[in-house]
Amino acid sequence: MSFKRLLGSLALGAAIAFPAMADNDPAVETRQGQFKLFVHNFGVLGSMAQGRIDYDADLAQTAADNLFHLTRHDQSRLWPEGTDSMSIDGTRAKPEIWDNLDDFVAKFVALQDAAETLQGAAGQGLDTMQGAFGPTAGTCQACHQEYREEAS
Ligand code: HEC
Repeated sequence: MSFKRLLGSLALGAAIAFPAMADNDPAVETRQGQFKLFVHNFGVLGSMAQGRIDYDADLAQTAADNLFHLTRHDQSRLWPEGTDSMSIDGTRAKPEIWDNLDDFVAKFVALQDAAETLQGAAGQGLDTMQGAFGPTAGTCQACHQEYREEAS
């Protein structure tokens, strides 16, 4: 290998290593933690909706209250540019998010609206809770379909 090519490959190695330094961007871990909290609450409602655990009005209401408040957490510092899956490891956030920020935000607002309806319904009996659960799950899926990489 010529000296010049060696230098070239070293430079390439540095270019690859550099973005990896951003892999520990606290915003990425924090937004992933936020989604874990979503599922921590939404999952209980899903288990009731699908009959895997008994419906419990208090538990359902608490989970829906939590989801409502979690979806009100301001998102503006959780999605810095350069934290997409093409730029860094350790995230499933597609670069398309930053090309279509208006649509991404609209999909988040759809979740906020659905979580509000779910909060009003969750403690009102299994049928009522189920009626609001499906549309809320639909807002999670709509965003994941467009903007989240498949799990590897
Ligand atoms: C507006 C878009 C959007 C909405 C709405 C949304 N998600 Fe996500 N979700 C994402 C993106 C993007 C990621 C990948 C984040 C990353 O890896 O940096 C993600 C990741 C996740 C993860 C994986 C977290 C981890 O451990 O890495 C879970 C679980 C999840 N979402 C659950 C939900 C649930 C449940 C809902 C609905 C109640 C929901 N999401 C609504 C965009 C969304």
